[in-house]
Amino acid sequence: MHESDRQPKHLSDYAAPDYLIETVDLDFHLEPERTIVHADLAMRPNPEAKAARPLVLDGEGVELISIAVDGKPLQPDEYSATETGLTVPDVPTGPFTLSLKTACNPEANEALLGLYRSNGAFCTQCEPEGFRRITFFLDRPDVLATYRVRLEADKKTNPVLLSNGNPVERGDVEGTDRHYAVWEDPHPKPSYLFAAVAGDLAKISDSFTTQSGREVALNIYVEHGKEDRCDWAMESLKNAMKWDEERFGREYDLDVFNIVAVSDFNMGAMENKGLNIFNDKLVLARPDTASDADYAAIEGVIAHEYFHNWTGNRITCRDWFQLCLKEGLTVFRDQEFSADLRAGPVKRILDVRNLKSRQFPEDSGPLAHPVRPGSYIEINNFYTATVYEKGAELCRMLQTMLGRDDFRKGLDLYFERHDGQAVTVEDFLAALADASGKDLSEFMHWYNQAGTPELACSLDYDQQSKTATLNVSQILPATPGQPNKEPMPIPLRIGLLGPNGDDLPLTLEDGTELSDGLLEVTEREQSFTFTGIPTPPTPSLLREFSAPVRLTQTIDLEQIEFLMMHDSDPFNRWQAAQSYAAKLLTDAARDRYNPEPVKGQGASRLAKALAVTANEEELAYAYRGEMLKLPSESDIARELARNIDTDAIREARETLRETIGNAIHADLAGIYEELADTGPYSPDGISAGKRSMRIAALDLLVGSGKDDELERAAAHYRGATNMTDAIYSLLILAPHDDPRRDEAMADFYERWKDDALVLDKWFAVQARSARPDSVEIVEGLLSHPKFSLKNPNRVRALIGSFANGNPTGFNRKDGAGYEFLAECALRIDKFNPHMAARLLGAFESWRFLEPNREAHAKATLEGLANAELSTDSYEIVSKTLG
Ligand code: PHE
Ligand code: ZN
Repeated sequence: MHESDRQPKHLSDYAAPDYLIETVDLDFHLEPERTIVHADLAMRPNPEAKAARPLVLDGEGVELISIAVDGKPLQPDEYSATETGLTVPDVPTGPFTLSLKTACNPEANEALLGLYRSNGAFCTQCEPEGFRRITFFLDRPDVLATYRVRLEADKKTNPVLLSNGNPVERGDVEGTDRHYAVWEDPHPKPSYLFAAVAGDLAKISDSFTTQSGREVALNIYVEHGKEDRCDWAMESLKNAMKWDEERFGREYDLDVFNIVAVSDFNMGAMENKGLNIFNDKLVLARPDTASDADYAAIEGVIAHEYFHNWTGNRITCRDWFQLCLKEGLTVFRDQEFSADLRAGPVKRILDVRNLKSRQFPEDSGPLAHPVRPGSYIEINNFYTATVYEKGAELCRMLQTMLGRDDFRKGLDLYFERHDGQAVTVEDFLAALADASGKDLSEFMHWYNQAGTPELACSLDYDQQSKTATLNVSQILPATPGQPNKEPMPIPLRIGLLGPNGDDLPLTLEDGTELSDGLLEVTEREQSFTFTGIPTPPTPSLLREFSAPVRLTQTIDLEQIEFLMMHDSDPFNRWQAAQSYAAKLLTDAARDRYNPEPVKGQGASRLAKALAVTANEEELAYAYRGEMLKLPSESDIARELARNIDTDAIREARETLRETIGNAIHADLAGIYEELADTGPYSPDGISAGKRSMRIAALDLLVGSGKDDELERAAAHYRGATNMTDAIYSLLILAPHDDPRRDEAMADFYERWKDDALVLDKWFAVQARSARPDSVEIVEGLLSHPKFSLKNPNRVRALIGSFANGNPTGFNRKDGAGYEFLAECALRIDKFNPHMAARLLGAFESWRFLEPNREAHAKATLEGLANAELSTDSYEIVSKTLG
């Protein structure tokens, strides 16, 4: 560990590179334990940089075999090569070629960064700083070069040889068992977009003709035997290519688009130019192996990586502080894609739920950081919900404020202006401002200020003047390093409901008609007065969740119920149901557990309202399914905000589930029966919606506590003909102490024990199931013969699901859950710091726990701080402790 690795890097220290690299010529001699790389780099001093400086290249654990400048080998005293880089003090003042011969060991690479092996194949992961593990390089996103890559490997074990761009040549190496392939990528790119793959893989192929008539060959490479699980990914890819042409005018720019699925991958997927590499979990799907949620995730991520071709690859980031420039925008694009393909409002509900459950806690805890951070220690720790999901919300707000047409014009200008460049968030906003004529200077605060703004609203009605005044104040909480903040422009979409539930026309005092209900809050305190309001209206605020804020308002349960029945905005109608339940649940779980709110009058009214909505046939199935889902235990914890007792929360939620399950038993049973026949499996929105709604009903029925309802769940599992029905009924059964639960669990294992992705689900269900002994269960599974700490998917399935999906288990009173996570993270930290640091993120909300749990968490964190940690984990632990 170098102490210098622990020094934060600052955005304000950005300096252009001293040297540029025009072309990169790479020649790989692939061997599992010793791969040799020849690199010829055409370099020149950067005219924009200051006086001549020594050439300093990044490197990490690469062995230098030889080095030459313009063909002349350098003597040992003419350079210095270390674990972390290569320095050449004296290089030509004009253009020159640097030739490097280096070696690395893919087989020993367990961090899964750089060149590594997965199931016998060679693959790479270079974002953000993995290329320096392959050869010495200016490994930063503002150095763009064109690449020519030759891969040479044993032909029998590596029939497939892939890199970025277009294939130009292939053949046998005479007199050997080896062959080679040459790839050329004409588009200049930063090193983080480099990729190479070699191995024995199967492929499925298709093609796509772009709007201007370019014929693109599409291939998906997978392990042999998995070819029958690629159709959905391929269909999603073609849909994404078409959608990006139609919605954003973006066309693909190479002759081939390759996707490779690997089983060992730290993240979801990677947008390498022309050669996307995927975690196989986000490619492989068959009705019996993948759930509806998996299908939706595959569709979204295939699109996401494809969309990066323009937002990320053609236009990239100047430095890693600008990560949201590509990620926020690309998440926004994939969200819009999925919303267009399926029921839009349901997609919005799922995205907001995801934002609130993952980003809001981050933004209110010790790891809070701006969407564009000002400093970091380890960039790998900044692939966060804030950069991705909140970053996407910022793009969405821009589209809302500019309107779809001007937003599109702004993006067109951005693509035109910056194609082939590495740019900043300021460049992005400038393009949008120039194209629309809107001043976006204040919007920059959204990128630079951390923390979720609170939007406190109240509505005053004046009988005399028939006016309603909406008072809004934005409260910007302090976050680490940012005690004071500037007010931000907040798009606030609203409606005012009249007595019969219809939207009233919105006319501001100055006569402006708000046809779209959109207000723009710009001050700390602001009021908006609406005229011609005959009777006191019911406010529907933050429709569509028009800004990533925490809305607080004085509104009573009757009004919430009214919104739940009548709001014309589907998002807010759902939100009302959630708020209603959350109010009951927090009242029950606050301070000491009090069952009254989740058993009494309010609870039965909620149940009745849910039944009415669930029976409204004009509403999409998926939407009605969402209405039937109670806030999760972590939703409730977030609402409580402090003094959190996870057991009380669970007790409250289980009781409400029981109350509802009994109060509207007949309706739920009716829904369950009526939706019994969903026909042959299809992942489309309607079929998936039916399954989702039916399972939501089943969950409440089982919650009623009746034994024949548990039997219903067991029968649901036994009768399942697809993974969705199987896995959700298993999840419902999992917490119960019942032979039918054990039978189902054993059956699932027997059927899927040799299928890694499905077996992950078996681990995850147990990890998530709330039982008094879940710590021991999960601990026991660590030594299951099928478990391995080396495979990230399996680690996430067991340890990640436990830490993030089992609040009562992880936060067990005696602190055993915390100790367990710490021990696992320490073991993983030794070989895969990136993975370990991610797991440790689960401690982010420790300060909001009740004092006893808080003390246990603190002790565990302090223990970690005293252990030997990687830079990645050190940053998370030290910041979490604060
Ligand atoms: N850039 C990838 C994506 O969003 C994520 C990723 C980051 C993958 C770092 C691997 C390593 O889409
Ligand atoms: Zn991305």
